[in-house]
Amino acid sequence: MIYYFSATGNSAWVAHTLAAATADQCEDMSTYLKSARQPAPLAPGERLGLVFPVHAWRPPRVVLNFLNQLPPPPAGCYVFAVCTMGGFAGDTFAFLRQFIRLDSCYSVLMPENYILLTGREPDSRLRRKITAAEALLPQIAAAILAGKKEFVVKRGLLAGFFTHCLGALFARRVNDRKFHTTAKCNGCGTCAGLCPLNNISLENGRPRWQGNCIHCMACLQRCPQQAIEYGKITLRRKRYVFPDSC
Ligand SMILES: Cc1cc2nc3c(=O)[nH]c(=O)nc-3n(C[C@H](O)[C@H](O)[C@H](O)COP(=O)(O)O)c2cc1C
Ligand code: SF4
Ligand code: SF4
Repeated sequence: MIYYFSATGNSAWVAHTLAAATADQCEDMSTYLKSARQPAPLAPGERLGLVFPVHAWRPPRVVLNFLNQLPPPPAGCYVFAVCTMGGFAGDTFAFLRQFIRLDSCYSVLMPENYILLTGREPDSRLRRKITAAEALLPQIAAAILAGKKEFVVKRGLLAGFFTHCLGALFARRVNDRKFHTTAKCNGCGTCAGLCPLNNISLENGRPRWQGNCIHCMACLQRCPQQAIEYGKITLRRKRYVFPDSC
């Protein structure tokens, strides 16, 4: 079984591509996160895969929430994790290993989706990253099928500093106070349905953010009307969703 979390589609694509190659089932963690329903225990001998984006050189908080809902994998079950990232992963997996045993870890470079830091990357770079990922995923799938135990991750320099210092700072400071909607909002509610933390409610037909946000950017990037902005930073920045935009 492969479980994934994905705000803008990169990790969903990686998870589904791997699942197609390994004949694993594939499920969105958000289904469980949004309902607090417990995923089924793994069958003996079943593989477990986790696929998610790197957020501030750590796994997103919702992935750790999901692990609290997941019955622990039985002894002997092969567990692998794949992170997608715009640049480098830092010590994401050392952090994750505090919460679950991992046999193999991989990183896949994908388009950057943190629109608050950078606008959408140029189309040529998006295509280059996705082409490289298309070549890498069959190798990861083959390693998973062979039950390999390996660590193939682009950690970058000063990985511990990024994960433990800057990651901690991000976790403390992240908030939703600057999200707002423009007149383009038609009250469709898509943003509320997308938020993995159920942090958006509709009041008088307009979204209201409730103060429990991880900045995954699903709401802002995927609003069909492009009606969500973050302060003034995003006003002129193009949105990114895999694969529509490349
Ligand atoms: C809040 C936030 C923090 C991020 N931090 C990192 C990071 O530390 N390192 C990195 O390489 N990419 C970082 N990214 C980029 C994403 O990991 C990357 O674009 C990922 O593939 C998005 O996956 P998704 O489409 O499945 O959500 C960050 C993105 C967001 C939204
Ligand atoms: S998804 Fe966009 S248009 Fe729909 S309610 Fe949310 S902000 Fe408004
Ligand atoms: S409010 Fe938006 S950015 Fe924050 S967690 Fe929910 S979907 Fe992600």
